[in-house]
Amino acid sequence: MSPRGPCSPSIPLPWAAALLLALGVERDLAQPEICVHCPGSVRNLSEVASYCKHTPELKLRARCCLNQEGAILGLDLQNCSLKDPGPNFSQAHTAVIIDLQANPLKDDLANAFRGFTQLQTLILPQDVNCPGGINAWNVVTSYPNYQTCQGQRDFCNSTGDTEICPENGSCVPDGPGLLQCICVDGFHGYKCMRQGSFSLLMFFGILGSTTLSISILLWGTQRRKAKAS
Ligand SMILES: *[C@@H]1O[C@H](CO)[C@@H](O)[C@H](O)[C@H]1NC(C)=O
Ligand SMILES: *[C@@H]1O[C@H](CO)[C@@H](O)[C@H](O)[C@H]1NC(C)=O
Ligand SMILES: *[C@@H]1O[C@H](CO)[C@@H](O)[C@H](O)[C@H]1NC(C)=O
Ligand SMILES: *[C@@H]1O[C@H](CO)[C@@H](O)[C@H](O)[C@H]1NC(C)=O
Ligand SMILES: *[C@@H]1O[C@H](CO)[C@@H](O)[C@H](O)[C@H]1NC(C)=O
Repeated sequence: MSPRGPCSPSIPLPWAAALLLALGVERDLAQPEICVHCPGSVRNLSEVASYCKHTPELKLRARCCLNQEGAILGLDLQNCSLKDPGPNFSQAHTAVIIDLQANPLKDDLANAFRGFTQLQTLILPQDVNCPGGINAWNVVTSYPNYQTCQGQRDFCNSTGDTEICPENGSCVPDGPGLLQCICVDGFHGYKCMRQGSFSLLMFFGILGSTTLSISILLWGTQRRKAKAS
């Protein structure tokens, strides 16, 4: 008879199997819709493919290059007949490289890239301007069939204006040519002028602290008005 009784530790095995299964299922379910937004996979010779193959932990799935957590680091939607990036494009806000060339895109992409703070290389059709304008990027290069926007600038710095945000707000980048003013601890409300504890803060943590999500455009307008008056 085995020295171990009927209660020998056979439980961990099914548990482990169940866990692996659950993780596997979760991984599959977690594949973002934007990765299958158009048929096919990342083009073999695309920049996204070479970026993805460069790092062993990254894997190609449909039109995406994903990291181990399933976050999108690369997205290749070239030649997808896209007129606009679509509502699910924001799923790619973690991307470092995005290829949108050979699409009939309308030239109004500024808001599509809100929150895309990691983006370093963007490939666009030749007739579409880099989001945020030329000043939002370190290098903009035109080729016969496409153009590249490379090296996203920190827009909190590149405006050269230290007073973009209200007195008790701090500036954080929010994508190409975009920024956000976040009220410092203890302040909330319009222009971070209200002081005191904010009851929702304890429930929402950092997300609950009032953020003034604004574009530089909006602030520019307000500041110009303020100066004018
Ligand atoms: C492209 O990828 C496919 C499989 O995904 C492969 O069969 C083919 O040889 C690759 N082509 C090149 C040029 O690497
Ligand atoms: C774009 O896709 C179509 C098929 O959907 C294909 O015929 C064409 O060659 C592709 N163009 C490029 C530049 O890859
Ligand atoms: C966006 O994703 C949702 C699921 O989250 C899906 O139902 C919808 O069809 C997608 N929209 C587009 C335009 O792909
Ligand atoms: C932007 O400014 C911050 C602090 O002022 C600095 O740490 C950061 O390196 C700057 N970023 C760039 C891209 O200049
Ligand atoms: C910013 O905070 C300081 C105290 O930290 C306060 O004295 C000042 O009035 C605040 N400014 C505004 C505009 O609320």
